[in-house]
Amino acid sequence: MIEFEINGKPVSVDADPDTPLLWAIRDEIGLTGTKFGCGIGMCGACTVHVGGRATRSCITPVSAVEGTSITTIEGLSAQDNHPVQEAWRNLRVPQCGYCQSGQIMQAAALLQDIPAPTDEDIDAVMTGNLCRCMTYPRIRNAVRQAAAAMTQGNSDNG
Ligand code: FES
Ligand code: FES
Repeated sequence: MIEFEINGKPVSVDADPDTPLLWAIRDEIGLTGTKFGCGIGMCGACTVHVGGRATRSCITPVSAVEGTSITTIEGLSAQDNHPVQEAWRNLRVPQCGYCQSGQIMQAAALLQDIPAPTDEDIDAVMTGNLCRCMTYPRIRNAVRQAAAAMTQGNSDNG
């Protein structure tokens, strides 16, 4: 049994240690918001947070997350109201939607590390998250909008 926490809840997964974390999340735990794209760490569709870091779950063996805390798109916020999710809705970012949970998780991690990113910062971090629908301009605008909302929120809170 491999034990870790996902979206604040403890879980035990009975899986081969080499099983990709993505399959444990989707098939064992039943959270299907995290998507399979390439399976080789090149597209970002499977991005989750492991210990707060954006992580490609398709190339992470489940044994590597023993004892860690994982967040998926389902647990990013209590009511789908993380500033990144709000901005994504405001600007109607998704098209087919397939890549978008990975995009949102990557963007949320970016804003944790760089609260006021430049366009260059956004492009540098988001470049590994591919979108076949070419929503890139809206993604960049939404990251900017979320950054502004989060900065505003922090200053409102003193
Ligand atoms: S499915 Fe993991 S990076 Fe593409
Ligand atoms: S919205 Fe379709 S792949 Fe990104």
